[in-house]
Amino acid sequence: MKKLIVAMVIVCFAVAAAIAAGPAKIDLKTWVAGEPSKPAVQFPHDVHQAKNQCTDCHITAEGGALKNLKAGGEANFKGAIKVKATKNDAHDTFCWECHVAKKVPQGKSCNKCHAK
Ligand code: HEC
Ligand code: HEC
Ligand code: HEC
Repeated sequence: MKKLIVAMVIVCFAVAAAIAAGPAKIDLKTWVAGEPSKPAVQFPHDVHQAKNQCTDCHITAEGGALKNLKAGGEANFKGAIKVKATKNDAHDTFCWECHVAKKVPQGKSCNKCHAK
């Protein structure tokens, strides 16, 4: 009985940790003000969590608000990216900024992020 309770407590903590880390994959269609012209980005959050610090992207280690990696401070991308705008804040102040800094292979290749 005691062992079972201990096991259940461990499972609860594991589930809580998984929820706190946010989703493994995130559909960034929510960032676009309208119907995207390119395939909407399916952001591999789990890959990024394994290769970066939470605070490389988020203001705090708990997640939530993102950083503007170019200007500093908080970024707000939701509904902020114009349809067909290749020059946009998602590229210039966030994704590309880090991919260039960390020398991610093909870090600015369209198909890497806008994959069918
Ligand atoms: C490379 C950048 C990056 C890293 C590193 C990263 N995240 Fe995220 N995270 C994101 C993005 C992008 C989103 C989606 C935000 C959105 O939907 O606008 C997100 C969403 C989240 C969410 C959901 C928040 C919400 O508003 O729904 C949580 C929770 C979260 N991250 C926690 C973490 C934790 C904890 C870590 C470290 C273990 C981490 N993240 C590492 C980029 C990152
Ligand atoms: C703070 C740094 C950072 C930011 C910000 C960042 N990335 Fe990355 N990204 C990385 C690194 C590092 C890798 C290489 C991981 C590896 O070694 O495979 C990567 C790899 C990727 C990959 C390839 C994943 C795979 O399975 O090989 C995709 C797709 C990607 N990033 C999309 C994005 C998108 C979309 C954004 C913006 C929403 C973004 N990244 C923002 C650091 C970042
Ligand atoms: C590192 C990831 C990444 C790369 C590489 C990338 N983009 Fe994006 N792009 C994004 C994100 C994130 C958004 C906003 C969310 C979305 O569109 O799903 C976006 C938005 C867009 C938009 C506005 C929305 C739309 O679909 O109309 C266009 C246009 C665009 N990108 C074109 C390009 C082109 C062209 C390239 C290659 C030169 C490229 N992107 C490379 C991450 C990337």
